[in-house]
Amino acid sequence: MTIVVTGATGTVGRLVVRQLVDSGRKVRAVTRGGAPFPTPIEVVRADLDTPESLTSAFTGAEALLLLCRPATALDVARLAERCGVRRIVTLSSIRAEGERDAPYHLAVERAVESVDVAWTHLRPGMFAANLLGWAEAIRGTGVVREPYSAAAQTPIHEADIAAVAVAALSHDGHAGRKYPLSGPQTLDKPEQLAAIGAGIGRALRFEEISPDDWRARADSLPGFVQDLLLEIWTGSAATPEPVLPTVAEVTGRPARTLAEWAADHAADFGGDPR
Ligand SMILES: NC(=O)c1ccc[n+]([C@@H]2O[C@H](COP(=O)([O-])OP(=O)(O)OC[C@H]3O[C@@H](n4cnc5c(N)ncnc54)[C@H](OP(=O)(O)O)[C@@H]3O)[C@@H](O)[C@H]2O)c1
Repeated sequence: MTIVVTGATGTVGRLVVRQLVDSGRKVRAVTRGGAPFPTPIEVVRADLDTPESLTSAFTGAEALLLLCRPATALDVARLAERCGVRRIVTLSSIRAEGERDAPYHLAVERAVESVDVAWTHLRPGMFAANLLGWAEAIRGTGVVREPYSAAAQTPIHEADIAAVAVAALSHDGHAGRKYPLSGPQTLDKPEQLAAIGAGIGRALRFEEISPDDWRARADSLPGFVQDLLLEIWTGSAATPEPVLPTVAEVTGRPARTLAEWAADHAADFGGDPR
């Protein structure tokens, strides 16, 4: 069985490729840039914004992990169907049906549902990898400054999103399912920082700052991303995000904690790689 992974150099896709290879699957990794992958991974240079470039990736493949690109999703899904792909798993979002998101991830989900393939939508919440945004402060002073310390989210390890993707790409029984995915703990920001500290063996400190001060420091982020983050933090300070059971239900293993994630990324935070 050949499985096509788009976004194969990305946070989640990279681990999907690795886990598929470890489970003995044949993998075609799609990249726009021809990034190197070790044998036996087949690399296909293609661009989701140019659907026809994916023809050779899809031909003879059974399953596809699809990164969301709404503008071309319908053409990509139709091409996959024509090429004989039987399963499409989307890397969507827990916010797919939220007003703020629409119609980004939802447009891709609907495009995939409109063709004759078995589909599964992965709907993760906050990636733990977003906390790499704290890495510079942690490597430096060990003090992280942000607004909305009470924002309580459920960061998920990218390896757990990948494990659910691998199950849905490789096995029957996931067709027509929408999987909301979270990490195993609801943690406010000081608790997230403490978990990272535990994972890398350092004491770290959180300092609350005003949203305006944060905007001034976060000027490398586009304004709409700043707006979205502030909205998510306000919302999750008022209503903490719930822990969802899906990772354990689908994979048969508990979701990895944030401390485990931090230990896996110790080098990013200035510690020794494990
Ligand atoms: N971060 C979060 O908290 C969060 C939460 C829920 C959902 N999500 C969703 O997760 C997805 C991002 O996943 P990720 O973080 O694993 O991705 P990522 O690290 O941002 O990487 C995505 C990869 O996709 C490839 N890519 C980008 N544009 C492409 C195109 N036009 N055609 C083909 N490949 C393209 C790039 O690889 P090459 O340069 O090698 O082509 C890139 O490495 C997004 O859709 C996001 O909305 C994120």
